Amino acid sequence: MTENKVNWTGFSKKSLEERISLLAEKQLLSAEHLDNLKHNRQLPLKTADQMAENVIGTHSLPFALAPDFLIDGKEYQVPFVTEEPSVVAAASFAAKIIKRSGGFTTVIHERQMIGQAVLYQVPNLRKAQNDILAQKAQLLVLADEAYPSIVKRGGGARCLTVDIKDDFLIVYLTVDTQEAMGANMVNTMMEALMPTLEELSGGQQLMAILSNYATESLVTASCQVDLRFLSRDKAKAQTFAHKIELASRLAQTDSYRASTHNKGIFNGIDAVVMATGNDWRAIEAGGHTYAAKDGQYRGLSLWTFDQKQQVLKGTLTLPMPVATKGGSIGLNPSVQTAHDLLGNPNARELTAVIASVGLAQNFAALKALTSTGIQSGHMKLQAKSLLLLAGAKETELPKAAALLLKTEHLNLETAQTILQNLRDETT
Ligand code: HMG
Repeated sequence: MTENKVNWTGFSKKSLEERISLLAEKQLLSAEHLDNLKHNRQLPLKTADQMAENVIGTHSLPFALAPDFLIDGKEYQVPFVTEEPSVVAAASFAAKIIKRSGGFTTVIHERQMIGQAVLYQVPNLRKAQNDILAQKAQLLVLADEAYPSIVKRGGGARCLTVDIKDDFLIVYLTVDTQEAMGANMVNTMMEALMPTLEELSGGQQLMAILSNYATESLVTASCQVDLRFLSRDKAKAQTFAHKIELASRLAQTDSYRASTHNKGIFNGIDAVVMATGNDWRAIEAGGHTYAAKDGQYRGLSLWTFDQKQQVLKGTLTLPMPVATKGGSIGLNPSVQTAHDLLGNPNARELTAVIASVGLAQNFAALKALTSTGIQSGHMKLQAKSLLLLAGAKETELPKAAALLLKTEHLNLETAQTILQNLRDETT
């Protein structure tokens, strides 16, 4: 794929066909994936029938593009799967400002998954803990033997620890899963260890399963927003920056706000996780547990206004055990298109992209919330969705949307009434 400079300004104003043509012209997708987009090729029914149980069809969602993310010095066009209006617009808006300010930088702290084997009715917990730890090397070999293919690919079991919590004996295993998310791999290893663990501890097995609290797969995305891109008016820009810092502090102290703050972050994260065929429930579970790691649920991101440098600094840290191989990734044509659009990144690169998107999404939401309010941007796009749902034609949208936004009750019923009135006027 050739690097080709693209001017993304006004991408949203193009028609769907024009957007796909631009991707073709700039060689941002292979011929096969362009063809997938042109023909809206979806998950084949036969494949779907093998993926879940009692299948009666497939279910579609909008597949969108948030362009021009600059992450660790590289440009990415990011695929989003989301049903919510204004999410893609907000991410695109933030990506644009942050790129001009120097882009995102990321640090991937580790990339290992954690499995746990839990035993109960252990006669002597301390002795069992010591006996298991004395066999650590052999247990790591046993885990690797249960899944030899990952060892061949350079991964495998890495570390084993034992904890006592209440009357449970919990054995934790960290596993390098390489490009896979590794749920099956870790579960297989944990189950393989169980008989030996029962023997060593004298206890009973309760369960063996991967933990979604992936504290060994943390990523941090950071960015600095140059105040000049917040507003041309210096005083206004400083007020924006100050208020975004306050919003960030609020999410650290009030869990009610933290929940919504993090929902905004996951608006972007989930959209890319879904587009790339990853397990969004796992990412959500890990992210929210991490948000409560010190006993109080807090915002996952932090924003500070650096008065001296006149920049707004943002960081976001969370577990991000995503994969580029395995699971359903190879089965769904639009998932493959999403990976192609991103330049077929490896798991580390994909992790960096997703965390950056989360931070961008949060920046746009906080900027809107502390300035114009969320309604003006979000509702402008929500109005369009409501009108489409009410049966509006493309040509009716501008006038009908303007009227709908002026009403007190922005709902389907009002949208239908406005459309009807407009049609009555023109007949
Ligand atoms: P704006 O300043 O009116 O945007 O903001 P603009 O018209 O000046 O356009 C600027 C750029 O934004 C565009 O550049 C695009 O990149 C992008 P251009 O292409 O023109 O060179 N953009 C769009 N991209 C695609 N489609 C569009 C579009 N419009 C602008 N239609 C904007 C408008 C919506 C971006 C802004 O108001 C915003 O960011 N609002 C936040 C919206 C949001 O966060 N929505 C998520 C749903 S609400 C929620 O669930 C989360 C929340 O509760 C989280 C929290 O509480 O923290 C809020």
